Amino acid sequence: MCGIFGYLNYLVDQDRKAISDILLAGLSRLEYRGYDSAGIAINGDEDNQVQIFKQVGKVAALRKLVDEESTNTDKVFNIHSGMAHTRWATHGQPSPINSHPHRSNAQNAFTVVHNGIITNYKELKTLLVNKGYVFESETDTEVVAKLTQYLYDTQVSTGRKPNFVDLVKSVVKELEGAFAFIFKSTYFPNELITTRRGSPLLIGLKTSKKLKVDFLDVEVGTDNTQPQDQTSNVLAVPGTVGGTPLARSQSRAFVTENGEQQPIEYFIASDPSAVVEHTKRVLYLEDDDLAHIQKGELRIHRLKRDDSMSTIRAIQTLEIELAAIMKGQFDSFMQKEIYEQPESVVNTMRGRVHFDNAQVNLGGLRAYLPHIRRCRRIVFIACGTSYHSCIATRQLFEELTEIPISAELASDFLDRRCPIFRDDVCIFVSQSGETADTILAMRYCLERGSLCVGITNTVGSTISRETHCGVHINAGPEIGVASTKAYTSQFIALVMMALQLGDDRVSMLERRKDIIQGLKELPDKIKEVLKLDSQLQQLAQNVLHKEKSLLILGRGLQNATCLEGALKIKEISYMHSEGILAGELKHGPLALIDENMPVILLMTKDSLYPKVRSALEQVTARKGSPIVICNVGDTNLSDDYRTIPVPEVVDSLQGILNIIPLQLLSYHLAVLNGVDVDFPRNLAKSVTVE
Ligand code: F6R
Repeated sequence: MCGIFGYLNYLVDQDRKAISDILLAGLSRLEYRGYDSAGIAINGDEDNQVQIFKQVGKVAALRKLVDEESTNTDKVFNIHSGMAHTRWATHGQPSPINSHPHRSNAQNAFTVVHNGIITNYKELKTLLVNKGYVFESETDTEVVAKLTQYLYDTQVSTGRKPNFVDLVKSVVKELEGAFAFIFKSTYFPNELITTRRGSPLLIGLKTSKKLKVDFLDVEVGTDNTQPQDQTSNVLAVPGTVGGTPLARSQSRAFVTENGEQQPIEYFIASDPSAVVEHTKRVLYLEDDDLAHIQKGELRIHRLKRDDSMSTIRAIQTLEIELAAIMKGQFDSFMQKEIYEQPESVVNTMRGRVHFDNAQVNLGGLRAYLPHIRRCRRIVFIACGTSYHSCIATRQLFEELTEIPISAELASDFLDRRCPIFRDDVCIFVSQSGETADTILAMRYCLERGSLCVGITNTVGSTISRETHCGVHINAGPEIGVASTKAYTSQFIALVMMALQLGDDRVSMLERRKDIIQGLKELPDKIKEVLKLDSQLQQLAQNVLHKEKSLLILGRGLQNATCLEGALKIKEISYMHSEGILAGELKHGPLALIDENMPVILLMTKDSLYPKVRSALEQVTARKGSPIVICNVGDTNLSDDYRTIPVPEVVDSLQGILNIIPLQLLSYHLAVLNGVDVDFPRNLAKSVTVE
């Protein structure tokens, strides 16, 4: 949902072409977050000039424009900086003028890139229009650039010399909504400012020489050289030498042991995938942090005073590898991620499921188990595919824990302002850990004193940082907009959690052993399901490709598979698809069934098999001819049915095997429909706006 990227180097010799290449490469990594249009702002031929390039469409189109239009010189400056944006439109259609960066005036005095939504932009725009500002775009973000100019000019007219940090603070004070910004200015040519509230942001640090400074321990203190006010708590960022904190006076630059400043590069990004090819050392900003980079120095200021907020911002080491964010031999990230599932499920279980003694140990939850076991109810809260993983495992939680469980869509949960109490446990499931609705629901529950548990795929994400405890699903970066491997890993993480919570119940011992055995069998069985790929490609091509609609029916544990399969098909192939509980057929949906309506029925073996069989009969009696996802060797199905046979596994894990044919089917339908699989229209990977 929009990606922002910024770059600043100090004492590094690079020409402008090299900088624009870094910006464009960073943008390509973030493209999955939005791909309506893209833009960059970069130093012009002189230090105090800024050039802007914007283009509709994907980053490749922008790259072409930059190559054609840049007045490149080989001049090397002391400091180069630039910033970039890839857009998922919220206000204003995709067009060059609505693309970011937005500027304050024709001289590009202030340029801004933004991820988020400014909810009070209309009021601010009216005020600025009344002051004579002329707007170029329909976006909320342009207000921010113009407001910065207005506040700058106001200060200058009263004889004051504005300071960039204070200026941006005063701008942000006027804004409502969610944001991650980068600001650049011709008045402050060697500086960048970045700040966040509600949208993710991190800074990668790379030194060109191997410094003896240990960046891991970042201490945050008060910097007396900066003007102080009631709400500003200025934090300095010292390095440490051999674990010993440097003296405060040396603390604002990254220095060597002998006190010299070293060449350093900073990479600001919405997520780690954009920085990992340059550096693995990153610092995640918290809400209301404002980072100021100037002459190789990084300082973090607070926009608001908050005594409960830690004054430490640790520099962390990213664990992702570059290969994990490359497509490799596959045509798309989605296809790669579907095929990664035999390994990704193993990574989710690694070190946590002990097959020898049938135990599960989730370290992140251990200290909280007694609290969770005593709770009044467990409430799952999530959106989209992540919500489906909650539906898929709800029944097992009920069975193994006997705690009442409910599953909520985050947006609806907030709309209803659901009652939440201190003795509730709320579990937030989110691949990105940055979904705005889920984050807002989490903060709502935190305020009400419930224990909040995060299940995410993104270490350092807002949900993983702000929940009391949680589980990382360790599926590896998921880049395809349609979630695939994250779904199966969330499913397993939740199954593991249910197993661990229920391990105090002797009556469930055998059942737990069966499930743990099922977990062990999963990787090989997933490999078997992946062998159905060409059959599913044929099915897509010969049977379903030209259809307008597809119903997916099932019940019980397969309800989630129906919902998730239908979501995959509609979001990637643009074919209408609906997941329907087979038990509800006769209460309405049966009216849709005739010889022309394509139907897929999930009829793998579990306790509801006889009931699903009767749904099969109800459909065939109305001349429907369902395609049946069944277990290999199911002899109850005559040759009249077209089948997709998948291996059998313990009932509570069968949904993991059953979803894979639907993932593959959606993929093939999308390819046949000419859809750019990783970039379906109107969508973005990480939905950081409400
Ligand atoms: C669909 C899909 C979305 C996400 C949803 C929540 O394929 O990916 O439905 O599941 O936007 O995102 P996360 O899990 O990042 O909170």
